[in-house]
Amino acid sequence: MRAPVKKTGRKNAAPAISVRLSDRVMLEAQADGSLDAWFDGYSTGLGNFSAAAIGRAQDLSTGLRLSSFSPDGKPVEKEIDVLVRRLARRGLVEYRLAHPADAKELVAIEPQLPDYWPRTLKPDNADVIALSRFAYLRRRGGEMVLESPRAGALFRIGDPKIASILALLATPQKISRLRRQDGFPGMEFLGLLMDCRILFKVEAEGDGFRADEGDDNLVLWDFHDLLFHARSTEGRQANPIGGLYPFAGIMPPPPAVRPSWPGKQIDMDGFLDGFNALSEPLPGIAGVLRERHSVRDFDDTRPVTLTELSRFLDGSARILSKWESPLDPEDGDSPLIDYTTRPYPSGGSSYELELYLAAANCEGLTRGFYHYDAGRHALTPIDVRPQDFDAMLTSAELAMDAPGAPQILITIAARFGRISWKYSGLAYSLILKDVGVLMQTFYMVATGMGLGGCAIGTNNIELFAKMTHIDFHVEGPVGQFAVGRALPDQP
Ligand SMILES: Cc1cc2nc3c(=O)[nH]c(=O)nc-3n(C[C@H](O)[C@H](O)[C@H](O)COP(=O)(O)O)c2cc1C
Repeated sequence: MRAPVKKTGRKNAAPAISVRLSDRVMLEAQADGSLDAWFDGYSTGLGNFSAAAIGRAQDLSTGLRLSSFSPDGKPVEKEIDVLVRRLARRGLVEYRLAHPADAKELVAIEPQLPDYWPRTLKPDNADVIALSRFAYLRRRGGEMVLESPRAGALFRIGDPKIASILALLATPQKISRLRRQDGFPGMEFLGLLMDCRILFKVEAEGDGFRADEGDDNLVLWDFHDLLFHARSTEGRQANPIGGLYPFAGIMPPPPAVRPSWPGKQIDMDGFLDGFNALSEPLPGIAGVLRERHSVRDFDDTRPVTLTELSRFLDGSARILSKWESPLDPEDGDSPLIDYTTRPYPSGGSSYELELYLAAANCEGLTRGFYHYDAGRHALTPIDVRPQDFDAMLTSAELAMDAPGAPQILITIAARFGRISWKYSGLAYSLILKDVGVLMQTFYMVATGMGLGGCAIGTNNIELFAKMTHIDFHVEGPVGQFAVGRALPDQP
């Protein structure tokens, strides 16, 4: 016979979610009723609020219950709702789930997406749930964090017992049984994790390892590939990324050139037959390579023409021929795989890369966003919000530290499944290698045509998903390239 469960006050009161300012953020009220947020030496205006709302906003430094305000509440509650949502969109708040009785924090929730808002799905006692194969626990400094590239937030675990509940969820568990575990963190916690797709519902206890987790396109992803994609790009994480020199004060920069190996060297200059490779013009492709360099400033009085763009895409990326081949030529039932040939090489002839063009200033082409149909050598216009189009150009401008937007910004997107259907373990790394190959092809064709170009190493996967309405794990940006006509005084 099972011993009766001892009921305590704390166990009966459900944990509650509150919102608070992130550690580095302070609010400052101005005499005119406006409120500013200060962080890292910067400030951002949050709008005008009543004296009552400004008074209430002070509680945001310690925590304000989410249930204490709403867009349908009293006037001051509505104002707080507006304020918190503005802070949330700027990434200036975090949330915590705590027992109301003793304020013991179970988890702190750090948003990773700008529009994250804690939602607790309402699981049922009879539901069977399991841990996503994309979720992981790791040490960050002195904290334990629970993350997933699919999640809109990460969870700082405040109670070690939660880790053992998560370990149990490696196999599907009926919620009614899970609730009897010591340290069960409450249905709200499960609801938060289900909303972030860290936990998912399975049909039955024996059916816990569906690779799709409710989305067929996930079957094709390895754990490390999806994590690498989400953490090495902008849009789905709150960590700052880019040339931030995080180790500048800690260690000297590694040298540009590797120190020579010891031993007697063979001087290759001696085999050039008197040809001075560094000063004499090189013929053909070697000459184009020697001429190639990155161009970031473009002459907007002389935009690239549609004819030049057509030649650029024809020379670098169009499909030249198509063919098919069975996976196993010995087996009549083997699936037929279709292939293409293009001007640049691609791992396994996969050609998973797609080109999307933000045409900002191209003579003969309406300003807008286009997909390049490489089979038909045609551009298809895609309707996007002007503010998203501008945000894409602005982030390229910032990445190049350029004085203006590029005339054409090419986003290189990958159809991930095309390559991961074949390659296990190395799919994402092959995609990035293909991107490098295509970038160099762009450089060469642009240089050969007398145009300028520059590879761009960052891209925002969430912005692209918003513009194309394609899920980030189905088709998404893996690189960008700016093209245009260089200013006349540039080399
Ligand atoms: C993968 C890759 C990413 C790059 N990302 C950027 C970038 O984000 N911003 C930028 O201004 N230049 C970028 N560049 C251009 C490099 O800064 C440039 O190639 C390098 O400084 C050498 O100069 P060169 O291309 O003129 O020879 C990138 C180049 C490559 C190959």
